Amino acid sequence: MDRQLLERTDTGMPTRAVALDIDKIRADFPALKRRVGDFHLAYLDNTAATMKPRQVIEAISEFYSLRPANVHRGIHLLSEESTDAFEAARAKVATLLNAARADEIVFTRNTTEAINMAAFCLAERLKPGDEVLCTALEHHADLIPWQVLRDRKGIELRFAAVRPDGRLDLEDWYSQLSERTKIAAFAMVSNVSGSENPVAEMCAAVRRVGAISLVDAAQGVPHMPVDVQAIGCDLLACSAYKMLAPFGIGALYGRYSLLEQLPPYQTGGSMISSVSLEQTYFAPPPSRFEAGTPAVGDAVGWAAAIDYLQGVGMQALHERELELSRYLHERLSEVPGLKMLGEYYPGKPGIASFGLDCAHPHDIAQFLNEEGVAVRAGHHCAEPLHRALGFDSTVRASLYLYNTEAEVDQLIHALHTVREIFA
Ligand code: ALA
Repeated sequence: MDRQLLERTDTGMPTRAVALDIDKIRADFPALKRRVGDFHLAYLDNTAATMKPRQVIEAISEFYSLRPANVHRGIHLLSEESTDAFEAARAKVATLLNAARADEIVFTRNTTEAINMAAFCLAERLKPGDEVLCTALEHHADLIPWQVLRDRKGIELRFAAVRPDGRLDLEDWYSQLSERTKIAAFAMVSNVSGSENPVAEMCAAVRRVGAISLVDAAQGVPHMPVDVQAIGCDLLACSAYKMLAPFGIGALYGRYSLLEQLPPYQTGGSMISSVSLEQTYFAPPPSRFEAGTPAVGDAVGWAAAIDYLQGVGMQALHERELELSRYLHERLSEVPGLKMLGEYYPGKPGIASFGLDCAHPHDIAQFLNEEGVAVRAGHHCAEPLHRALGFDSTVRASLYLYNTEAEVDQLIHALHTVREIFA
């Protein structure tokens, strides 16, 4: 794609995003052409799910039209093509994350399944008295699996606090990390406050105490360059549907030397080396963790989405999003009676959660919908974070590469109207 106009250094690394051709990008997304009544659709619910470009839709359609055979089983043409496409998708996810090898990528249904898988597979390493360190700003998907593990194994589950500005209290996190910590699980970017954690620094600290790090990167991987080797994480989870790709697929990245030591999550076809009536020998990773027929068409769609994103350039996309995030937060600060969950800081990703003093978040979201603005309302699967910051629920606006300043203006205009009506 030539839409990315970047200045490059001699090393080929992007230094400054000049512009993305947003109009050209938007033209690739059929759903963005929809209208809501008389209004332009301003889709600002990208943290929940992104829209899909025609390149992804066409790749899925082509797969199902030409080679919808099962993988890793057949010796016929269509099965070979299907298997090649599936494994090429794995290699593409590995490239996106800069994994050392493709078989460090385990396909899952989504981030939730990836974290549940990790918690389940790590259970047998734990004994009473061991600790898992989590944080108070996690999505429920990175919280409940650890509560279940605590109850199964009689371990301690600790939570680092969140600061009033919506950021993780790193001092508290460090103070709770100890030789007793066996697993530390934390988000790369909060799906509610939008704040970003210094994950490389945190993973290094986790390594120093000999524990395993798990990064919930559901809101990281779609929005910025992510390099698992530079981060130094043991495990990292992400979902495809938050990055232009289909629902139904995600990944657990695992350092291979760790994956090799873990038992299977589910058992059945595809995950074995050999089976007798008495005993089964499990396949090496990643097959060991992929029992049953996988979501092949979704993997193909994910590969097409990665091609699309890499064509734009993850660094360029990130910089554009930060620019629009600044604009969004600036404009929100002009709305009287609006209370942000957390604070803006330069470089904060494009997620803004807030309340208005005059109306309930659900009523606000419903009104915004009538004005063509799609946002999410509720606790966004992060009840503890809301409570910690004194909210029951919030309205959340979240950005992606196709959003525009005009759409932010549409949101702000609608919020002013909400105030006129409800206040
Ligand atoms: N985890 C997604 C969200 O935050 C669904 O909306």
